Amino acid sequence: MEKIVILTGAGISAESGLGTFRDAGGLWAEHRIEDVATPDGFARNPALVHCFYNARRVQAAQARPNAAHMALARLQAEARAEVVIVTQNVDGLHEAAGSRDAIHMHGELSRALCAACGHRWQAALSMSERDTCPRCSAHACRPDVVWFGELPYRMEEILDHLAGASIFAAIGTSGQVWPAAGFAQEAACAGARCVEINLEPSAVSDDFHKVLRGRASDVVPGWVAGVLSGNGS
Ligand code: OAD
Repeated sequence: MEKIVILTGAGISAESGLGTFRDAGGLWAEHRIEDVATPDGFARNPALVHCFYNARRVQAAQARPNAAHMALARLQAEARAEVVIVTQNVDGLHEAAGSRDAIHMHGELSRALCAACGHRWQAALSMSERDTCPRCSAHACRPDVVWFGELPYRMEEILDHLAGASIFAAIGTSGQVWPAAGFAQEAACAGARCVEINLEPSAVSDDFHKVLRGRASDVVPGWVAGVLSGNGS
């Protein structure tokens, strides 16, 4: 069966009210990556890191999927192809839209991880450095998100999907964070037609055969309709 691989980034959730990282006023303009998104930052000040992710978890819980998330769920349901969604986003908006089995390569805000024993569980809306692991009781509970300096999740599986893709689309991602920034090159080498859907040029736009500029909620539904009707990618 033909395979379509979609990579999504913060831009797809922007119109659901969740901030991106690198746009003006984005999360990395207000917070230092080394303080809130690295293992060292967590070791130095776990309370600050929990506070950052607690605020994002509350925001994400209130957000609703937009037309772009809904269109990708439609693509998964209706395409005569396997549609694999890989997301760098830690929100749950693909699932809320009805998508199945999205691969969260940077983890999920809704999950907690024990840094001591590796146990994972459903995170409370608010986590604290005083929490204990339900399995080993260590005071080492952290959000189950991937920080800088850590390996993204399920990379082997993702690379397998890219190697078998006939269409690869990247939606709402700046192409500044690896390894996701290299997925278009991987897919193109394997013979996929690569499409970028983004508000503005990304750092890796040249790696795509086609670029569609605009807001994800405006562009993605039309692109999905084109793929479903067989009018190309
Ligand atoms: P960025 O904030 O780096 O990029 C978001 C991209 O979305 C930009 O290129 C915007 O132009 C575009 N964009 C903004 N609004 C849009 C809209 N309504 N429709 C379409 N495009 C829009 O976010 P990511 O590329 O997802 O990692 O960032 C990748 C990773 O860097 C994140 O997963 C996170 C971050 O540091 C970790 O925390 C490990």
